[in-house]
Amino acid sequence: MRILFLAVLRAHTGNAVTAARIRNHLEAVGHTCILKDALDFESSTAVASLIGIEKFEAALALHLYRGGRLLQGQRIPFGIIFGGTDINEDIDHEEKKQIMGIVLEEARFAVAFTESMKEMALNKWPHAKGKIHVQSQGISTMPNVTFNWNTFLQNTEINRSADNLHIFILICGLRRVKDPLYLVDAFSEWHREEPNVYMVIVGPEQVFCNRIQVDPVFTREVKARVKRASGVQLMGEMSREDLHAIVKNCFAVVNSSISEGMSAAVLEAMDLEVPVLVRNIPGNAAIVKHEETGLLFSHPQEFVQLATRLVNDPALEKKIVTKGKEYVRLCHSWKSERDTYQNLMWKLQ
Ligand SMILES: *[C@@H]1O[C@H](CO)[C@@H](O)[C@H](O)[C@H]1NC(C)=O
Ligand SMILES: *[C@@H]1O[C@H](CO)[C@@H](O)[C@H](O)[C@H]1NC(C)=O
Ligand SMILES: *[C@@H]1O[C@H](CO)[C@@H](O)[C@H](O)[C@H]1NC(C)=O
Repeated sequence: MRILFLAVLRAHTGNAVTAARIRNHLEAVGHTCILKDALDFESSTAVASLIGIEKFEAALALHLYRGGRLLQGQRIPFGIIFGGTDINEDIDHEEKKQIMGIVLEEARFAVAFTESMKEMALNKWPHAKGKIHVQSQGISTMPNVTFNWNTFLQNTEINRSADNLHIFILICGLRRVKDPLYLVDAFSEWHREEPNVYMVIVGPEQVFCNRIQVDPVFTREVKARVKRASGVQLMGEMSREDLHAIVKNCFAVVNSSISEGMSAAVLEAMDLEVPVLVRNIPGNAAIVKHEETGLLFSHPQEFVQLATRLVNDPALEKKIVTKGKEYVRLCHSWKSERDTYQNLMWKLQ
């Protein structure tokens, strides 16, 4: 089948990664799947004409509101995948909720990443009973890449001769909602006491992403704050492969985001047996069990306490990475995600 796949593909969002993975699942069984950024379309008329020109036979959308609404009323069958903002934000907006209800009615199937997402959707749209499948996001292991950790360190102000170097990585777009500055002061203070701990914030600046201008004022603010903070470094955009290699080599991955959704970066770190320290918000608490598969903190001081503990307690570290890896293998299986989407395509024939 020729499948149109609409998603918000803004660079470096989890969505883009998820969409690319699902496309691979479909192309692996011979479908042609073309990914298009939902933000590039002004209206469903533009989508209708694309469907005609490209001879699409079916469609998929990631995000009921942002993507799915463009498929409503089109003459090809489609399926939809709930996005975080559908359930966490758009559902409370009466007009958007109504549109999502209609999209859901027309869709042949819907996918929710978690049981609780499915429950919330059924609460609002009981008519979708039997249509919503739960499939968690699969985590694919990246192939090994040549990456020189020493060269990476050379390009930072990290003291490579410090004994017992511990590098924490925060992967983060420089957007307010990601709250990249949350830990900066506390971390910097910790670094002054323990000069062998560093935090590296890796994030694209996203000055322009598909017509949406992303806060240049905030970017400047982040740069200025980080510059003043000893022990904290900012790294620009890098390829997914390099990022993966950095995660593999660092001591721990940190997430301090206040945004909703599930962090693929956190799951990938767990898969790579790198400990994760994440802010206690619903999206993170859904994947990280405190002191089992990772550590959850609720304020910056607590982060420093837990990080200190992790640095000094190799047994805790070992336990967390073992259980984290096991959790990803059991609950975020790439194979089971692949099977689910390949099977769901039969509903679009
Ligand atoms: C990648 O490297 C690790 C350790 O260096 C090794 O165990 C693994 O087999 C490699 N994987 C591939 C796909 O080459
Ligand atoms: C780097 O660490 C070494 C070993 O602890 C120390 O002797 C040296 O003074 C440090 N260099 C800087 C620039 O802080
Ligand atoms: C942090 O976690 C939240 C919730 O799981 C997620 O939405 C966000 O994208 C993550 N941010 C980073 C920088 O990994």
